[in-house]
Amino acid sequence: MQIKVIPRHLLAQAAAEHIIETIQTRLAHQSNASIALAGGSTPKAAYQQLAQMSGRLDWRRIHLFWGDERCVPPDHPESNYHMARQTLLDFIAIPPENVHRMRGEEDPFSAAGAYEAELRTFFSGGNGRGFDLILLGLGEDGHTASLFPGSPALQIQDRWVVAVEHNQPPPPLVTRLSITLPVINAAAYVTYLVLGAAKSGRLAQILAAAGMTSIEPPLPAQLVRPTSGNLSWLVDEDAYPGGASSASE
Ligand code: 6PG
Repeated sequence: MQIKVIPRHLLAQAAAEHIIETIQTRLAHQSNASIALAGGSTPKAAYQQLAQMSGRLDWRRIHLFWGDERCVPPDHPESNYHMARQTLLDFIAIPPENVHRMRGEEDPFSAAGAYEAELRTFFSGGNGRGFDLILLGLGEDGHTASLFPGSPALQIQDRWVVAVEHNQPPPPLVTRLSITLPVINAAAYVTYLVLGAAKSGRLAQILAAAGMTSIEPPLPAQLVRPTSGNLSWLVDEDAYPGGASSASE
């Protein structure tokens, strides 16, 4: 596991560079690459930066998915797809068929089943065993994607996508769609983007658990342990419990 502590004003560019370098590495050995985008607010600046640097990637060979989605229409301000449209998708030359949106406007349970089928079809069609890169955020409660503390979804091993009722903070209090831990942990690269002092307590817990003591019950974000993939954390100085230094575990 690697953690990089980056000044807040440089994090978006560092994240965009990391995405580009990771995908270029993957495309050197395979025809296509797949990215699962994170939602929330943290990735916005990174996606805007990636859009500005998008000429460095061949988007015809890249497929974009989502790690989770709120069950709202795709043009809703709380939609993770809507956020990605506004910051990235509208500015890159990616074929429409390479954008695999979770259908938040449909019945959550059927949308989860449909997205799982889409993933299974994609990954059984010669596009590798799992995502090349999954981007994740960290909630103040330690959730990641839409896997929340105490959720039964954390125990699921046989499904790739689930519908998650969500009726307590953090907002928005809407049903969500989320990929599950087996999918996350099968990725070649998993990268967290974490900003702000509000996350530092949880981040400290997770880093401690990764390196020293275990915490019960484990936080969802602690359960992200790629089976054979690479785990990275790109965090700003406010979020890093150790302050402005860089470290690798
Ligand atoms: C979502 C995200 C969620 C997010 C964290 C952090 O749909 O909300 O997928 O997991 O990454 O809640 O959110 P912020 O980046 O807004 O702090």
